[in-house]
Amino acid sequence: MLLNGLQRLEYRGYDSAGLVVSNGEEKFKLMRSVGKVSNLTDKVKQHIPENTTFNMGIAHTRRATHGGITEMNTHPHYDTNQNFFLVHNGIIENYYKLRNELADKGYTFYGQTDSEIIANLLEDNRNGNFLETVQKVLKKIKWAYALLIVSKYAPGEIIGAKIWSPLTFAYNDKDECFFASDQQALAGYADKLIHLDDGDLIHLRDKSYQIISNGVPTEKEPEIVDQDVLEASKGSYKHFMIKEMYEQANIIRRIFKGRVDFKNNFLNAEAFHGMKDEKFKKIVFVGCGTSYNAWSLGTYRMENLAWLDASCEIASEYEYRNIKVTDDTLFVFISQSGETADSISVLKMIKQKGWHTFGIVNVVGSTISRLTDYGLFTRAWAEIWVASTKAFTAQITSILLLALYLGQKRWLSKAHYDKVIIELSKVPIMIEDILADSDNIRELAQEIAEYKNFFYLGRHYQLPIAREWSLKLKEITYLHSESYPTGELKHGPLALIEWSIPSVLLAPHDLMFEKNLSSIQEIKARNGKVIAITDKEVEWADHKIQIPSTIDEIYPFLTTVATQLLAYHVADILEKDIDKPRNLAKSVTVK
Ligand code: AGP
Repeated sequence: MLLNGLQRLEYRGYDSAGLVVSNGEEKFKLMRSVGKVSNLTDKVKQHIPENTTFNMGIAHTRRATHGGITEMNTHPHYDTNQNFFLVHNGIIENYYKLRNELADKGYTFYGQTDSEIIANLLEDNRNGNFLETVQKVLKKIKWAYALLIVSKYAPGEIIGAKIWSPLTFAYNDKDECFFASDQQALAGYADKLIHLDDGDLIHLRDKSYQIISNGVPTEKEPEIVDQDVLEASKGSYKHFMIKEMYEQANIIRRIFKGRVDFKNNFLNAEAFHGMKDEKFKKIVFVGCGTSYNAWSLGTYRMENLAWLDASCEIASEYEYRNIKVTDDTLFVFISQSGETADSISVLKMIKQKGWHTFGIVNVVGSTISRLTDYGLFTRAWAEIWVASTKAFTAQITSILLLALYLGQKRWLSKAHYDKVIIELSKVPIMIEDILADSDNIRELAQEIAEYKNFFYLGRHYQLPIAREWSLKLKEITYLHSESYPTGELKHGPLALIEWSIPSVLLAPHDLMFEKNLSSIQEIKARNGKVIAITDKEVEWADHKIQIPSTIDEIYPFLTTVATQLLAYHVADILEKDIDKPRNLAKSVTVK
């Protein structure tokens, strides 16, 4: 169970794995290894006889923050006397001071992690009462942790504690109890989930558990979760990336369900929680990475369709800016995982100031979905692939619905509104058409996979798409790529244009088509190579990826899928480990 659980969390990105098990007595068996979970599995097979039974254990995959990728820095960690074992997600900000205080008392350390400090703090504060000891130590450590702790002095007991980093407690009808930092690990094991909140501690012993919230014993109702939501396999697809790309058309149909009535071009107000009587004049979007790119498209949509003043902010920057906010501002947080620390940090700051918040999130029960006042779920099922495809498409679909809903309450004309809704209803089919052209796009990928540098260029609605797919190409091929507003080329980047740096130019037949044609000539005049993604004949382009014709507001869906396929095939041709891109984590829960 522990090894299966870790395998299900591999998609999050990690560099080492470990576990400690016992059979409720004092004896603990510790196993750790650098590299894949399969290395740990081999080690367990080697060192623990097949028929040995255990009835409790904690396990962890690590992504290094403090100390190199070594077995000594791999979790679980333990104290000098091996009385406490723990696994930890997050960062202890005051670990250095604590480490020196313990060293002055004679404690020694086998590794460089902040987590090992906690184990020695437990030993140093041990008073024969497991719960009290943990509570005492939690008061000493600063900031972020999801912790699971076991002790020789408390056989058969586990204490979990959470500040910031996600932690879920779960159980099933067989009284089997589980903890997980991501509900994916619980698929097929437990269906009653309790998502712990900041300041929660949970003490599990003898098949019963007690939750203590900020020192006060508390009852929390479990949420019953349908296993399908948890179960994720890539089926017959070569990679989760391509599998999730082929899910997009159905996911968009799921997003429409109960929200859009295409027969009457009607948007169901109930679906847009908290938006019925809203009086907002400004929308501020906050997010990171791919979610930020989805939002930057959102700003165009809110300005053009909802007649709202809109801006999009990178969370890790926004937190430290002196922002002036009027009460008619709505802060919208977008996140696939709902657990991105940078975004949560801004959300908590905004909530403390009493400003309005709205979440567009994929993972049900995640921190951002629970902390925002209202929101929309993007219904993209579990997104397993470390980088993001279907969640991005689900995000830009949800944003467009929100913009149309707000727009029809303002000055969006019925004609324009109807035109967009009608074309939107065709998106799933148009996406399936582009995916059906995958072989042709692979041929083009074969031709450009040799290049080391790329430009992704777009104007207006296409600029966020250019940014997103320049990011994706980097994430999965490790090739260098830059994205630019096409109009910016002549203000500098044009200096780099030459045959060995292909330009992927998103040039559908929209408002900016003519301008894009002159940009293509600008690049060709300097012997640059142009790959045009368009629905029109573009004479000067060296290569073209054909997309269906539609309207300005809808083209971003089509150029997204076309650039997805191009990036996927380039990475596959370069034989990259597409499902496990190096150095990346699916959900970045540390700041
Ligand atoms: C996307 O491919 C990356 N995984 C990353 O940029 C991601 O979008 C970012 O970390 C934000 O994650 P979130 O949507 O879960 O908040």
